[in-house]
Amino acid sequence: MSDVTVIGLGNMGSALARALRANGHTVTVWNRSPEKAASLVATGAVLAPSAAAAITASWLIIMCVTNYVAANRILGEVATELPGKLLVQFTTGSPQDARASETWAHAHGAEYLEGAITGSPSSIGTASAHILLSGREAVFRKAEPILRGLASQLDYKGEPIGLASAWEMVFIMHYYGMFLSLLHSVQICQAEGIPLEEYSTLLGEQGKPYEKWLCENIQSGHYQETSAPLELWAGGIQQIAQHAQDSHIDAEFPRLAARLFQKAMEAGYAREEVSALFKVLQKSD
Ligand SMILES: NC(=O)c1ccc[n+]([C@@H]2O[C@H](COP(=O)([O-])OP(=O)(O)OC[C@H]3O[C@@H](n4cnc5c(N)ncnc54)[C@H](OP(=O)(O)O)[C@@H]3O)[C@@H](O)[C@H]2O)c1
Repeated sequence: MSDVTVIGLGNMGSALARALRANGHTVTVWNRSPEKAASLVATGAVLAPSAAAAITASWLIIMCVTNYVAANRILGEVATELPGKLLVQFTTGSPQDARASETWAHAHGAEYLEGAITGSPSSIGTASAHILLSGREAVFRKAEPILRGLASQLDYKGEPIGLASAWEMVFIMHYYGMFLSLLHSVQICQAEGIPLEEYSTLLGEQGKPYEKWLCENIQSGHYQETSAPLELWAGGIQQIAQHAQDSHIDAEFPRLAARLFQKAMEAGYAREEVSALFKVLQKSD
């Protein structure tokens, strides 16, 4: 038996598994593409031959895959292994997804927490890491000793299971406003002959390193993926737009942002940096 299982070894799942190993826990991992486990196996993690075997290996199961469609598919295949397990879902989803998932997990004999990560994979295990959690408090207290090693700011939001997702939407929403504003500012610079490096320097002086870095991506024309590819942002804003519609909030802004991100997906920029959205806006009339 391991202390904890991690399912999904993309950028974020790998960071979670690495931090758990660094904290001295025994860790079992599983990923659809097993080759991604190699660097973790080198640190002592055990690669399970199947998702079902990975679930069997630990009482605490952490899941972190692209979206709920993928997560639910995996869970559906391992449902018989779930009784008695505690599932922490770090896959980004809406509060509605979290509520449905908690009901499903309970119906299959598992305890359930919803998790949301507001920072980048490189923040995991460091002082700047911030993880939101929701679900039954007694369940949170059980998982807390292990989860605490992932983030010094382990932010338990309360029992209603949708709270972690709701807070994640609150945190990330301002980025979408920032992206669209920044990319429009770049276009103003270009239309008026203001050198982009001057804008980028100003952003640095204003203490906006992320914005400066996005601007430098555009300046250099290099949009290679780092750790948060455009498709994750596209999925996030789709969920926010859907949530706005379901909650009868005016959805005009999230829908606009979601449409633009969808165009970028259709243009083939899914695995590029979020700054690649600029290439779509540039082509707009
Ligand atoms: N990266 C960030 O900065 C960040 C920040 C906060 C939250 N998050 C959230 O963390 C979650 C994971 O993000 P990530 O950065 O790790 O993404 P990623 O690097 O793109 O990795 C995606 C993971 O999902 C797996 N996956 C996708 N579809 C699958 C399917 N149908 N069946 C089985 N496995 C599937 C992939 O397996 P393969 O390796 O086989 O493709 C991979 O393990 C997302 O919900 C994201 O929103 C990420």
